[in-house]
Amino acid sequence: MIKKVATLSIWLLSCVGAISVGFSTKDTFRSLALKKGIETGVAVAVSDLNKEAHINIIKENSSIVVAENCMKWQYIHPAENKWYWKDVDDLVKFAESNEMNVKFHTLFWHNQNPSFLSEKWSREKAIAVMDDHIATIMTRYKGRIKEYDVVNEMFDEDGSLRKTIWLNTIGEDYIEHALIKARECDPKAKLYLNDYSNETMGHPKADAMFNFVKKLKEKGVPIDGVGFQLHIDTAYGFDADRIRKNVKRYADIGVLVSFSEVDVRIPQKNFESHLAKQQKIYRDLLKIAVEEPNVPNFIMWGFTDAQSWVPYTFRGKGHALPYDEKLNPKPFYEEMLKDLKK
Ligand code: XIL
Repeated sequence: MIKKVATLSIWLLSCVGAISVGFSTKDTFRSLALKKGIETGVAVAVSDLNKEAHINIIKENSSIVVAENCMKWQYIHPAENKWYWKDVDDLVKFAESNEMNVKFHTLFWHNQNPSFLSEKWSREKAIAVMDDHIATIMTRYKGRIKEYDVVNEMFDEDGSLRKTIWLNTIGEDYIEHALIKARECDPKAKLYLNDYSNETMGHPKADAMFNFVKKLKEKGVPIDGVGFQLHIDTAYGFDADRIRKNVKRYADIGVLVSFSEVDVRIPQKNFESHLAKQQKIYRDLLKIAVEEPNVPNFIMWGFTDAQSWVPYTFRGKGHALPYDEKLNPKPFYEEMLKDLKK
């Protein structure tokens, strides 16, 4: 079943692209998902684009790509009047020559920032810096980057707004200010707010985010979607029904939900005994993404365990991605392919 006409046109385009750039038209995760009306993709590291085997995997899996790091402030805007474009330009060119969309991740976040950002700035100064950051990036990539994580991880665990430099200098309206400015700079770009632990209806952060976005919509602030990062640990509860319900309530208020950074981590020790649980979670998530009309994409946070943020961030955890360290596809990934063929 075709979920969305807009996506069908990307799929047709990608078939033409496949012929003209000469890669095979065999069924791939990318092509099968597009037939179901959903974009898929992976986070790409700068070094991936120098490795043929990695490039092939990215092509097989992605109709949308996102940068794992090079779009973050620290890299793209390291000093007030200094910009570093090369890595982002390269990724955008790579995406264009392979008929892929690009998601910009992320304009504002509390991590991976340059040292020139200052908590001591006045509201006016912080707004000026924020506006310059948005305008410079979105003007440069206008029409080429079609979606943006405007703000990343804006909530604390209890659902209050995280005390970031932007909240502390500008105040609570910094998010709507950023959204309004972003819409002004590229009216066609899709604007997202992205976070983690926001997927399960009833979780304080999930409910806080929904209520926040609902208010933005009521006020007429431009927002197209929210991102559920979905960095999942099999050790904690996973409730597919409540995730689906959460997706549906966003549909009711006309908001998209991107599955934006999926990975499912398991313990390194005796990892085999956790694979069944992991497989179920991946397949449940993909099923929701395919079936719910307001989920446009399913993006994984990388593709190989050889290059995942998980073991560096969560002690003793790993095996979170669809390809092992030797780039062999895993059984759960093969099962997802089968599900897409059904
Ligand atoms: C991570 C990258 O994967 C790491 O390489 C980097 O050192 C830190 O950031 N949520 C996000 C992503 O929104 O930007 C993070 O990416 C992972 C968690």
